[in-house]
Amino acid sequence: MTTPARTGAPTLARTRDQLDQALVPARRAVVMTMGALHAGHLALVREARARAEQVVVTIFVNPLQFGAGEDLDRYPRDLDGDLALLTAADLLGEGDVVFAPTPEVVYPDGDPVVRVSAGVIGTVHEGAVRPGHLDGVLTVVLKLLHLTGPDVALFGRKDVQQLVAVTRMVRDLDVPVEVVGVPTVRDADGLALSSRNAYLSDDERVRALALSRSLAAGRDAAAAGGTPDDVRAATRAVLDAAGVETDDLALVDPTTFADLDGRPAGGTAVLAVAGRVGATRLIDNSDVRWA
Ligand code: PAF
Repeated sequence: MTTPARTGAPTLARTRDQLDQALVPARRAVVMTMGALHAGHLALVREARARAEQVVVTIFVNPLQFGAGEDLDRYPRDLDGDLALLTAADLLGEGDVVFAPTPEVVYPDGDPVVRVSAGVIGTVHEGAVRPGHLDGVLTVVLKLLHLTGPDVALFGRKDVQQLVAVTRMVRDLDVPVEVVGVPTVRDADGLALSSRNAYLSDDERVRALALSRSLAAGRDAAAAGGTPDDVRAATRAVLDAAGVETDDLALVDPTTFADLDGRPAGGTAVLAVAGRVGATRLIDNSDVRWA
């Protein structure tokens, strides 16, 4: 089935008032991003389009989720490029909204005194390497959910710990929204799309392929009947051989992010890796199944 071309352009809202005026009483989906959009984000917007009449895409580099010394200042920002990509993809039209606020609009009183805690999910793995990161994510996600009032919110499975934390927040705090995880989009050679791939030199990009290869090695080890430790060892061996400086390697329960000692009760676990290729920190993950 071919989809008819969309008419008109989405409303660009820079303030809360502009956003309020653009929201209409219709089934609404939100895709939250930090900009530097790529095909992975478009997959989220496509899924949003299929699930709602009004689609809101937020573009906001959230200072609260960056730690000291992280890449907040050099994080790529290109609102015009993002709008051009969204227009070219023909996924948004009249009635849809791109909300691109400044930090002053999102945090009018400066850094919030009261924040959301990701609890134990925020202290393990990505949370241990980036203390406070997931609390900063959940705080802005909850604010953006309040501001945009969606029926459904789409998040990429690439940031799997973030997805688990958001899902848990919505459940634990009775936030009236459906959270949907969308599969990771990859280049043909397996590299997971990420805004941070823009930092990689040609050589580093080749080395970065070790992340997806390491996950394949982990999957193979599980399929061959290996223990969780066998899976971790097979994964790490590929990263080490490629000279990736591994920050984190998690083989965890898919709903709690708790480390696995034995085979998972449901037969499926999440294998997640994070590592530095040159100065760039990349993450990737995959489901791992035991027969
Ligand atoms: O995944 C991201 O891009 C960010 O963490 C999010 C969800 C937009 C919150 O700032």
